[in-house]
Amino acid sequence: MLRRLQTPEFEVRPLSDKMAAEVTGLDLCQALDSETQRDVYDAFLKHQLLVFRDQDLDEDQQVAFTGQFGTLERHTLRNRGSADHPFVHVVSNLDEKGMPNGKVASTLWHSDKSFREAPSSASILHAKRLPPNGGDTVFANLYLAYDALTDDQKEELGEVMVVHSYELSREHAGRKISAEEIADAPANAHPLVRVHPDTGRKTLFLGMHASHFEGAEAGEAFRDSRSKIEALEYFSTQSEFTYHHSWREGDLLMWDNRCLIHRLDPNFDADEHPRIMHRTCLRGTPT
Ligand SMILES: [Fe+2]
Repeated sequence: MLRRLQTPEFEVRPLSDKMAAEVTGLDLCQALDSETQRDVYDAFLKHQLLVFRDQDLDEDQQVAFTGQFGTLERHTLRNRGSADHPFVHVVSNLDEKGMPNGKVASTLWHSDKSFREAPSSASILHAKRLPPNGGDTVFANLYLAYDALTDDQKEELGEVMVVHSYELSREHAGRKISAEEIADAPANAHPLVRVHPDTGRKTLFLGMHASHFEGAEAGEAFRDSRSKIEALEYFSTQSEFTYHHSWREGDLLMWDNRCLIHRLDPNFDADEHPRIMHRTCLRGTPT
C-alpha cells in the first residue's frame, strides 16, 4: 500500500528532443496528491515517456501507483501474474529454477495490448534486476512519424482500419496459440491514423499485432496490406523518431501506448545475466 499523500516539488527534465523526460524528486511509494497526479499526467502527455529515477516499489506499491491514473489492465492468459498480484506481469529471462535461459521476448516493435478492443493506454515498467550492460528499451514516437508523412499519404491512410490480432502476431513469431487464448484475446480493428483521446493529436497506430487492413482478409489484398503496414513501421522507427533507453537501477518508466511503440533491444548476455522487470498496464478507451 502507498504510505501517505505527498505534495512535493518535483523536476521534469527532457531526455531527448523526440520524447522522454526524467522525473526526479518524487517517491512513488507514497500516494500523490491530486495536484501532483495532474502535473505528472500533464508531463506524461507532453513527453509521452516519463523516467522516474531512484524508485523501489514492491508489487502492491506498483499496483497502487498505477491505479492513481486509471483502471489496471489484466494480461493475457499466458502472461497472467501470480495469484497474489494478477496485475503485475513479471518480464524476465529466467526459467522455472530462476536461472537465465537466454530467452528474451518483446524484441519486435509493438504497442502493449493493441489487439484489445480498448488497447492499453499506458504501461509502467519497473527495473528490479538489470544486466551489467544492455537490455535497453527502444521507443518510437508515432506522432512524429505521422507528422512526417506526405499530404497524399495522410489522405490515403486517413480512413484505413487495421486488424490487430494476437493470434496472427504469435503465428508470425512461430507459435500457434490455443483456442482458449484466442477466445481470451480476439482480434479487433483500429484506425491506422488514430486521434489521441487526451491530446487530440493524430498519430499512427502500429506494431507487431497490426496484421492487415480490415476487408483484406486473404490472398493478394492481405499480402499487399501487410507490406504497407511493414513499410510504415520501417518508416516510423527510423532513428529520427526513436529514443533508446539505457536502464539504471531504480528506474520506473511510464509510457503512452497510444502514440509510442517500443521493443526490447536484446543487447545483453541473456544466457548469463538476469533481467527482471515488473510491468503493469492501464486500460485505454475504444479507438
Ligand atoms: Fe511491451
